[in-house]
Amino acid sequence: MPKNKNFAAVVLAAGLGTRMKSDLPKVLHYLGDMSLAERAIRKIAELEPAKIIVITGHKAEMVEAELKKKLAHLGDKLVFVRQKRLLGSGRAVQEAMGEIRRHAHVMVLCGDAPLMRASTTRKMRDLYFRNGPGCLVMTADLDEPGSYGRIRRDHAGNVAAIVEAADADEWERAIKEVNSGTYFFNAAALGKAVRNLKKKGSKGEYYLTDALENIIAAGGRVEAFKLADPTEMSGINSRADLAAAYAMLNRRKAADLMAAGVTVVDPSNTYIEEGVQIGADTVVYPGIFLKGATVIGKGCKIGPCGVIEDCVIDDGAVVKYSCALEKSRVRQGAIVGPFARLRPLSDIGPAAEIGNFAEVKKSRIGRGSKMHHHSYVGDTEMGEKVNIGAGTITCNYDGVNKNRTVIGAGAFIGSNTNLVAPVNIGPGAYTAAGSTITENVPGGTLGIARARQVVKRLKKRTK
Ligand code: UD1
Ligand code: MG
Repeated sequence: MPKNKNFAAVVLAAGLGTRMKSDLPKVLHYLGDMSLAERAIRKIAELEPAKIIVITGHKAEMVEAELKKKLAHLGDKLVFVRQKRLLGSGRAVQEAMGEIRRHAHVMVLCGDAPLMRASTTRKMRDLYFRNGPGCLVMTADLDEPGSYGRIRRDHAGNVAAIVEAADADEWERAIKEVNSGTYFFNAAALGKAVRNLKKKGSKGEYYLTDALENIIAAGGRVEAFKLADPTEMSGINSRADLAAAYAMLNRRKAADLMAAGVTVVDPSNTYIEEGVQIGADTVVYPGIFLKGATVIGKGCKIGPCGVIEDCVIDDGAVVKYSCALEKSRVRQGAIVGPFARLRPLSDIGPAAEIGNFAEVKKSRIGRGSKMHHHSYVGDTEMGEKVNIGAGTITCNYDGVNKNRTVIGAGAFIGSNTNLVAPVNIGPGAYTAAGSTITENVPGGTLGIARARQVVKRLKKRTK
């Protein structure tokens, strides 16, 4: 067992990704809420390597800028090495040896394999440090090994080499055990092994996979860590792969939630990102997108249809069909929708009700308050048990500033009221339907601000 467990992770992300047929580098394509590269790096960061070395090449500036922005929290842990000559995975590692050599061990993985679970790589790391081989390669048995490199074993069953599909003979092509592209290496052994890689294939590339034979030739040991779930190694090479991977992540997430007591009515038509948390006995109906850091409590009803992003929804709340909620809080027992919109920083109080075509922005809606139809409430502080009549609008923007509206507990805002902010409606105050309120209405009074109705006799029409 090696004493020094200092290891770096190398993420290979320099390749062209030709089959994506895209101006965007392959590793920057999004899978759910993050790019392929970001996902791979976040997963590997969970293992706490001393450094994460990302090898960039194709459109390097773009890849580096995006990853620095999205992974700023990793600070100096994240380093980039630009591969000068895009001549294969072996060449990529050769060019990064300067960085790799500072560490005793190194994990190498591909930036285009986003389905790997952190729990699996953690197991692999533990096995590597337990046995201390020159290389531990992650493999899987596939019924259709396709274009993956084949694991050739010797008579004793030990890994002898990896043969790339393009260079394999008929016998080798029939091997079902393939290379996942994830490895742990002793850094010194790897350094020696990549120094004498030979050019291979029609493009004259240097294969990292040939390093294994070199390690064995130098007296080192190569072992395999076989995946129990081969889908984890799926690499993304095309848009079809991307869609299949999305479906896979989504299925996994729904399965985890169902195992924890959440009802997902129709998992294949429900989209729940990895970071979303949902409590037991909540029912999630089809057609909904649950995104980002959304946390949903117990016993809620969510959907069908709609988008909920970065929200906190407390126990027993209901979000009915076709709502759009963003960076908002819905408190216990509140009812939102159908067809409601909560823009960022809305806080819907316990048992409050937000109905159809109601929009709330940066406002607190008090406990038990009701805003049932066709209204806009923005930059507002509202007390308990307020009634907002249909068509109420807070006129919060004067063209320069956003101004605040305050509505006291128990106030009754008549239908079609314009509340021209800044304005204060006192507790228990009323506004008359159709009023344009420009001045404060003290508590317990009625504000009327509309022209008095005139009824005129019709003139007789002459033909
Ligand atoms: C590679 C493996 C293969 C394995 C498969 C798993 C080699 C020679 N073969 O094949 O055994 O079954 O992955 O998915 O390694 N890259 C660079 N610089 C380069 C070329 C590639 O950084 O010059 C990066 C790519 O961005 C990619 C990774 O290396 O993330 C693998 O390269 P790719 O061309 O996709 O290799 P595969 O043919 O998939
Ligand atoms: Mg690949």
